[in-house]
Amino acid sequence: MRILVIHGPNLNLLGERETQMYGTTDLATIDATLKAMAKKEGADVECVQSNNEGDIVDRIQNAKGTVGAIIINPAAFTHTSVAIRDAIAAVGVPTIEVHLSNIYAREPFRHHSHVAPVAVGQITGFGEKSYTLALRAALDIAEE
Ligand code: DQA
Repeated sequence: MRILVIHGPNLNLLGERETQMYGTTDLATIDATLKAMAKKEGADVECVQSNNEGDIVDRIQNAKGTVGAIIINPAAFTHTSVAIRDAIAAVGVPTIEVHLSNIYAREPFRHHSHVAPVAVGQITGFGEKSYTLALRAALDIAEE
């Protein structure tokens, strides 16, 4: 079983970027944790990061028929991207939206997610644990 993890813009800077908000763990460490966790369950995780909206749309389109679930932290595109929302709706691959910070406890412009209505669910505010919680959910969903 394959799970695709997509990290949006600026998440390549995790560990050095606004550490009071996003923590000190870098993206490579988060990806390694997810891969190890999936391996124990006999699953395979592919992790990609992009700062470009079109790249993310392409990745979602290519996931059709090849992955059991998508975990996505769309980062700032959460609040702006109809294109990412439409790609998720188009491919019909069960998708879990993830945020490190609690977007509802932050600035009002972060309270709206274009992705949430087309996601199976959203996990927000648990720091790096948001990703491991999402992987547990993704493994469950992909098995169904
Ligand atoms: C984020 C929250 C977004 O509002 C922000 O633009 C990010 C990261 C999070 O993981 O908490 O870049 O998605």
